Amino acid sequence: MISFKIDNGLKGNPKIPGDKSISHRSIIIPSISNGICEVKNYLESEDVINTLETFISMGVKIIKNDKKLIIEGKGLNSLKKPNKDIYLGNSGTSARLLTGLLCSQKFDSILTGDSSLSSRPMSRIAEPLKKMEANIVTNNGKMPLIIKGCNLVNAEIDIKIPSAQIKSGVILAALNTEGITKIIEHNISRDHTEIMLEAFQADIKITREDKKKIIAINGKKELQSKNIDVPSDLSSSAFFIVASLINKNSHLKLKNININPTRNGILIALEKMGANILYSNQRTINNEKICDIEVYTSDLKGCDLHADVANLMIDEYPILSIAASFANSPSVFRGLGELKVKESDRLKLININLLNCGVDCKIIDDDLHIFPSKKFEIKNNTIKTDFDHRIAMAFAVMGSKIGPLNIKESNSINTSFPSFVNEFNTIGGKIS
Ligand code: S3P
Repeated sequence: MISFKIDNGLKGNPKIPGDKSISHRSIIIPSISNGICEVKNYLESEDVINTLETFISMGVKIIKNDKKLIIEGKGLNSLKKPNKDIYLGNSGTSARLLTGLLCSQKFDSILTGDSSLSSRPMSRIAEPLKKMEANIVTNNGKMPLIIKGCNLVNAEIDIKIPSAQIKSGVILAALNTEGITKIIEHNISRDHTEIMLEAFQADIKITREDKKKIIAINGKKELQSKNIDVPSDLSSSAFFIVASLINKNSHLKLKNININPTRNGILIALEKMGANILYSNQRTINNEKICDIEVYTSDLKGCDLHADVANLMIDEYPILSIAASFANSPSVFRGLGELKVKESDRLKLININLLNCGVDCKIIDDDLHIFPSKKFEIKNNTIKTDFDHRIAMAFAVMGSKIGPLNIKESNSINTSFPSFVNEFNTIGGKIS
């Protein structure tokens, strides 16, 4: 894919697809509930389709009807053994959440993934589940995972890695485990699982102690299905927001965007950098906060972001780094260790690609330092993505300012935002 420089700014109302995290949960949770669920505006991307096909292979009746999903829930303990290994492609969310769900089922399963997913850490989900006596065999801490279904035992589980995927996997295991499982989360992470389970009448109690969140789940209580309207994805919106901020004469309006406070770090960071962003029509649907967002070209300044806020925008550092490259002062983004174990080593790829684009930057420990300058001397216009969708989209936005950039392996965009190129070109972008 080649992203060319644009001259006349970006204008219009790009359509942002449904939130990826909520779309996965909108298939998983209704499938193990009682009753029928209609899911509107779900994300039809490769990652979510992998989750969808997994539940179909486990006997859940899921019909696609006029862009909606109709899911007939089977209850907590009636999934059936799929007749082959479960392939999850690139999707870390599917892998971690399904590991939690499957270890309490009545059958054994094997989870596999593509080469990126197969190189990501899986002990982080297997180890806490083993405290509930789960039987999971990893391949040296990686995929494939061999999961032997059994009756789990409730326990008290500390989650010290800041990860909603780990937390959600353990919550899904606890739902099918007799008695109260107590999950102690030491860092804030996105809370879509808890929000949806409350709406589905799970017996879940959430309390806070200092910085810790305590989630107590009384298991073996059947869930009641409810219709879901998936809001649009803030992580996908971020590419358009930054593109509009850095390109002159730009003005975009994005509708129906999820601004859940455990996910909205990118908006707070950009505002700190002087972004002109307006919010309207704020409302709550299915307990998720939503609003419309307007973005105008802005003069950005650099910022220093503390490690504590990293998990509120962990997926947005690639595109935030592009914004920082056009600011009028340096930025430091601290505590980015988790970026090394995403779909690629994002910290390394941001650094290499920015340097190739002529942006001075460096990594010190797990902190990324960016020193923008007015002049971009491109050293190599080939962008290495290691098949990572967010690196590809972030540097497509970079291309709109300094292109042409030749972005390798850009098909990965289909994992989260298949209509990205089309939407970008509709508002004045030039990507071929
Ligand atoms: C996700 C959680 C995050 C995020 C991922 C989606 C989720 O991962 O990076 O894209 O849906 O729970 P971690 O929780 O492992 O940081």
